[in-house]
Amino acid sequence: MSNFTPEFLDEIRRRVSIADVVGRTVRLKERARGDFWGLSPFTKEKTPSFHVLEDKGFYKCFSTQNSGDVFTFLIEVEGMSFPEAVEQLAAEAGLEMPQDTPEDRERQQKRKTLADVNEAAAKFFEKMLRMPEGRGALEYLKKRGLDDATIRTWRLGFAPDARGALKSALSRDGISEDLLIEAGLLRVPEGRDPYDWFRGRVMFPIQDRRGGVIGFGGRILGDGEPKYLNSPETPLFQKRYALYGLHMAASPARKAGRMIVCEGYMDVIGLALAGYDNAVAPLGTALTEDQLKDLWRVVREPVMCFDGDEAGQRAAFRAAERALPIMQAGQALRFAILPKGEDPDSLVRTQGRQAFEELLQGALPLSEMIWREITQGRMPNTPEDRADVQQKLDQRARDISDATFRRHFSDYFSRKLWGERGQQPQGRGGSDRFTPRKGFGKVKIEGAVMADARSETRSITPADVLRERILLTTLINHPEIFDEIEERLGMLEFSAAELDNLRQRVLNTFARHESLDSEGLRNHLSEEGFRAEIGMLLSKNVYMHARFARPDSDVKEALEGWIDTWQRLTAKEHDGELRQAEAALGEDTTELTFGRVKALKVN
Ligand code: UTP
Ligand code: MN
Repeated sequence: MSNFTPEFLDEIRRRVSIADVVGRTVRLKERARGDFWGLSPFTKEKTPSFHVLEDKGFYKCFSTQNSGDVFTFLIEVEGMSFPEAVEQLAAEAGLEMPQDTPEDRERQQKRKTLADVNEAAAKFFEKMLRMPEGRGALEYLKKRGLDDATIRTWRLGFAPDARGALKSALSRDGISEDLLIEAGLLRVPEGRDPYDWFRGRVMFPIQDRRGGVIGFGGRILGDGEPKYLNSPETPLFQKRYALYGLHMAASPARKAGRMIVCEGYMDVIGLALAGYDNAVAPLGTALTEDQLKDLWRVVREPVMCFDGDEAGQRAAFRAAERALPIMQAGQALRFAILPKGEDPDSLVRTQGRQAFEELLQGALPLSEMIWREITQGRMPNTPEDRADVQQKLDQRARDISDATFRRHFSDYFSRKLWGERGQQPQGRGGSDRFTPRKGFGKVKIEGAVMADARSETRSITPADVLRERILLTTLINHPEIFDEIEERLGMLEFSAAELDNLRQRVLNTFARHESLDSEGLRNHLSEEGFRAEIGMLLSKNVYMHARFARPDSDVKEALEGWIDTWQRLTAKEHDGELRQAEAALGEDTTELTFGRVKALKVN
């Protein structure tokens, strides 16, 4: 499998951003466009000498004289073998691993050839826009507010309204009809001569990440159907991967930490004219998973713009649903809803940048979109409505693959559903010190089904409060156990509000800092105003009840003690939980489920 063609490797280099790959390991700063610097991963240093050139696709370390491309980076810095590096990067690029057959090599060669054909066509269309027959098209573009610089930047062109204009021009350049057909530039009617696919249209070249032309969109001048005609899918042009404008937007978007996703070619260009150099659009289809993942490689939280009409609303809901299962902790998505009948291009043109800026500021988070979709904008008040909403939310939560995100998703919605209206089910101790909120039904953890650690029937005893303290004390003294217990701590909700705040803060601190030791953790928490709570936790009063919580106990003891305490704290759900775990065992015989049932029975 290690006989990869140079074309295949080139295609990977073309599709994958080296700044992204390196950026996952080395913190990079962009000093000039596409020109990144960071601390060398090959040596310990304080001033950045590690240079990454996005457009050239290579890095150079001036401290150690190491240099290379995306592949060598994974091999030398991340310790992968060459085939492993190729496999990972091919997957990221959305490419199938080649089976190294002669046919396959031929296909790779073809892609390159097709790229050349598209480039020749783009040049031809650009030229035609400046010819007498292109005058109408040029006027149309000017009328839409595009200046010459913009037209050149986006390489806009014109396909003459004739059946053989492109065909004859490109065959004069030695490009065969067959190739033009394969590139989707000629159409072959049954039994007749092939003719130009794009006729009488303004041409928008669609470019890959590195600016190579892979296909076209062609707009009719004025009204008519179809408004836009696109290149058909070819080995080079696959709509589900392509994003219009990404070659221009990626670098500014990364720099600004902001990226706008709109619907059309003209939106991207219109926004660029208004000073937004960070906009992209899919090609007339709903955003695919691959496109979403590409966006997240550039920024943490892309903002998607949707029309305010009903179709736009539906498209937004669909996008939210699609994003939810694949979203990982650390990623996000926002939704800007435009006034009815406006798109970003028309909005910036008629109402200016300020109006669009406000719209972006007001963009809704993904969770809010999901909530609106499920509740249809009405707060559920009857038990029937609530049950319905809860069930739908549970369903959505089960779709989420990332455990951390799933937990926060569930937590957020349980608050919304039960907390905000102050109508939690009764029966959880009357004191104001407690902030009872209903848990969120079943949460799936690594194959086992567990009840959320709290249910509305649970009453809180002083012993529970002590156990909650023991859990935090043990963790603060032994942060090494965090990985083991993170999920369990995350599903809990402590009875006293300030202790639960601290619990959340601890989770948060771990999420933001790698390899914390006890002192580091305490410092962070103190800085955030929990000094008094920490004093109370790291005290004889707690140690008296739990020796394992002390700083001088050993890690194994601490971990076992922690888990034992957690099990006791959640024991009141054991009956119900055991039944659920057994039911899960009926369907799913993973060892984990089995182990879970066993653990519950022992207690
Ligand atoms: P829109 O109809 O919103 O067009 O289609 P637009 O981008 O605002 O274009 P203008 O302002 O009228 O010129 C959005 C996108 O959907 C795809 C194109 O990618 C377009 O940019 N589309 C639309 C098609 O592929 N075919 C069509 O017939 C229409
Ligand atoms: Mn438009």
